[in-house]
Amino acid sequence: MRILGLETSCDETGVAIYDTEQGLLAEALYSQVEVHAEYGGVVPELASRDHVRKALPLIQQVMDEAGLTADQIDGIAYTSGPGLVGALMVGAAVGRSLAYAWQVPAVGVHHMEGHLLAPMLEANPPAFPFVALLVSGGHTQLVRVDAIGEYKLLGESLDDAAGEAFDKAAKMLDLDYPGGPRIAELAKRGDKTRFKFPRPMTDRPGLDFSFSGLKTFTLNTVAKFAEADGLPDDQTCADIACAFEEAVVATLVIKCRRALQQEDLKTLVIAGGVSANARLREDLEAALGKFDAKVRYARPEYCTDNGAMIAYAGAQRLVAGQSDGLALTVTPRWDMETLPPLLSHGDKI
Ligand code: KG4
Ligand code: ZN
Repeated sequence: MRILGLETSCDETGVAIYDTEQGLLAEALYSQVEVHAEYGGVVPELASRDHVRKALPLIQQVMDEAGLTADQIDGIAYTSGPGLVGALMVGAAVGRSLAYAWQVPAVGVHHMEGHLLAPMLEANPPAFPFVALLVSGGHTQLVRVDAIGEYKLLGESLDDAAGEAFDKAAKMLDLDYPGGPRIAELAKRGDKTRFKFPRPMTDRPGLDFSFSGLKTFTLNTVAKFAEADGLPDDQTCADIACAFEEAVVATLVIKCRRALQQEDLKTLVIAGGVSANARLREDLEAALGKFDAKVRYARPEYCTDNGAMIAYAGAQRLVAGQSDGLALTVTPRWDMETLPPLLSHGDKI
């Protein structure tokens, strides 16, 4: 089965074609970062308009790249939530209309299920069951995964998501959006020993997270060392970035280890934009290696938003006979635990 996948939940237009026999055939990604740069964050209305401009040209591009014509596509997958409602509507409307015209089934994909399954696109994919750490701009969740569609939420952030915390800390240091990669870059020059930032909620039991206190601590440290231009000197900025990254990573590592122990599992999958973070990967590998557990992740470009993960996740559901009807719905807030398990071919949902 050959599936065209569309991702438009936020500020990236992602398109890909996934073949269940041959793997990925073509993909394209357009980032709106420059559209939103002057506003310091994503402007929903501008995001929708830009998806409208880019969706069809990118679809044409991947079809050409794969050397396919419309009659060679067997199904379409589009992100139907969670995300920005207008942005989701663009992908859903374009995807569903193409499926209608091409007479193939279409399915709405949960964006976080897309992230969660992205490591399956790599050679040697992780086997179920495992614990997943989903860390993106909007979510920080620990989930027990027994199969596709069989998810149990173990813990989540009570306030900011990890990626959001990176973006806000970056703003305090006058770094551009998205802040995660910028903080990581700056942190490389930082002195690890200069500051020790708090590791929120690690000294009590449970698997929930909270990053708002760490955000305030970062803001106060920046203010304490600020010079006439409102920023600390370059080295202090790097030291703060380093301490901030260290605190987020250490917090995530502690909770991941705890989740694996609680569930008595030995595989951790990390997914979502923050899972591209090199320090997170290294520190998890070191910490989990000590008790024979393994961490698995996708290549960096499949950690952040992309069309490939949506094509892959949609393909799993379409192959199992699941699809959505002509009356479009998108779900801007959507609990992953409510997703149905995969059914065998022919079963009705
Ligand atoms: O998954 P994603 O592309 O979009 C959402 O679904 O939100 O995640 C984007 C988030 C942003 O907050 C960005 O700052 C963060 O992932 N991010 C990183 C890194 N790369 C992206 N955070 C830390 N280190 C990175 N290398
Ligand atoms: Zn995402």
